[in-house]
Amino acid sequence: MTNFLDHLTSVPDFPVPGVTFRDISPLLASAQAFADAIGAMKELCSQHAFSHLAGIESRGFIFGSALAVACERGFVMVRKPGKLPTKTISESYGLEYGSDRLEIEEGLLPAGASVILVDDVLATGGTLIATARLMARAGATVAGAVCLLDIGALDGKRRLQEAGIGVKTLLTV
Ligand code: PRP
Ligand code: MG
Repeated sequence: MTNFLDHLTSVPDFPVPGVTFRDISPLLASAQAFADAIGAMKELCSQHAFSHLAGIESRGFIFGSALAVACERGFVMVRKPGKLPTKTISESYGLEYGSDRLEIEEGLLPAGASVILVDDVLATGGTLIATARLMARAGATVAGAVCLLDIGALDGKRRLQEAGIGVKTLLTV
């Protein structure tokens, strides 16, 4: 089995001084490592009952869409602002650096949908918490969240637990 940490690089002071960026590009560029990551994340998903996976633009799309195919579930795009053509539901959120807004298409999820949120990295948890709010407003239940990597020092896991969102990650650094 792949040691996923061997396929992540750390880039100091990106995108701003003081932040260490965890680059998933080498993991994605390895067919074996990427396939193993999706297989292991699928195992984490299988601990929940769920109808859809929601991937968060942009890196959450990579893992979320691959997982949706592997799990044979529908995929929902959680997009950055101004990209969706129909009426949207939107939520602002704070990032490790800066802030932004996320949107989903209104009416996309059917009544009774139960959704697993997917992203590459859990940092402060702001992105996933905003996405959970979007799902609630769309009438969907959040079954849980799955990420590749948790940056433990930023305490996102605790914030998610306080928000009632169970999160599972393959790795913690
Ligand atoms: C990064 C990462 C997560 C989020 C984690 O996304 O991919 O989505 O930050 O941070 P948080 O837990 O503090 O909210 P980012 O918006 O930087 O951009 P990208 O996915 O479009 O590359
Ligand atoms: Mg992201």
